Amino acid sequence: METVVSGIRSTGKLHLGNYYGALSNFVKMQNEYNCYFFIADLHSLTTHPTPENLAGTVRQVVVEYLAAGIDPEKSTIYIQSDVPEVAELYLYMNMNAYMGELERAASFKDKVRANPDNVNAGLLTYPVLMACDILIHHATKVPVGKDQEQHLEMTRTFGNRFNRLYEVDYFKEAFAFTYSDKLVKIPGLDGQGKMGKSNGDASCVYLSDSPEVIRKKVMRAVSDSGPTEPNQEKPEAIQNLFDLMNVVSAPDTVEHFDDLYNRCEIRYGDLKKQLAEDMVIATEPVRSRIAEISADEDYIRKTIKLGAEKAGESARKTLKEVREIIGLRKF
Ligand code: TRP
Repeated sequence: METVVSGIRSTGKLHLGNYYGALSNFVKMQNEYNCYFFIADLHSLTTHPTPENLAGTVRQVVVEYLAAGIDPEKSTIYIQSDVPEVAELYLYMNMNAYMGELERAASFKDKVRANPDNVNAGLLTYPVLMACDILIHHATKVPVGKDQEQHLEMTRTFGNRFNRLYEVDYFKEAFAFTYSDKLVKIPGLDGQGKMGKSNGDASCVYLSDSPEVIRKKVMRAVSDSGPTEPNQEKPEAIQNLFDLMNVVSAPDTVEHFDDLYNRCEIRYGDLKKQLAEDMVIATEPVRSRIAEISADEDYIRKTIKLGAEKAGESARKTLKEVREIIGLRKF
């Protein structure tokens, strides 16, 4: 069975983009592959969360993984920092990661631009840590979005470089994976771009949002004053509402509003009302499970413990072999 690894940084509550872009794929994959899904708490340290914030967001992501349907018996759900071998492998791999290539990574340049006064070394070597998450379990498939493609390429580079340096055929190449050939696009409610926390809470629908909050956010979504000519092309903000509808509503509902739009008879208030209701329905099972699981401290603790054991076993085996290959032998 091929091995799958994917992680989500613990920076807060998960939203519809995380769900349809990542989690729903994870749930499908666990029946076909040997899956490791983890919470990247070490990665989130680059932005210096407070201890309370870090602990709270890690717990929240565990709860939401479970609520989305990831089964801790089928998959390995773990917290990155529970497997210290990842940090050890990161040290070894850093010896073969070069300044130039790390500085050229698009994600690094973006982060430098966004936060010029927090260009820490952890940010620079973020792709090395991510490579270690994948290499430590010898994964070949990584369900991630397009924005992570370059990191996967770097993962292959680092693994191959290790193999060459030590003249071994040890690390495998990992590739991005998705079930459909076109990635589902989950836009935000702010009229532009994809749904993401960085665009503010109002543009994001969180899995834990109550129906009232979802309705309020959707009714306030950016739209415009309506089409003026039949069959006019939709501006981005309107297309985004239709894209969201495509994900949560029935096909004939989308068609209905599409027809109204093309005849210039659409009322965005009606469209938003329908969209909000369908979103509430689509998220209901996950929302109620979040509440249920969040109250079950024992289940959360057991899940995390089991995950740490399973991931630790795989990681310890890899590190034993890596130390041997490098020449860090026991006397
Ligand atoms: N970099 C990923 C993101 O920001 C998170 C991540 C860390 C990850 N390590 C990983 C994803 C390993 C897949 C595999 O979304």
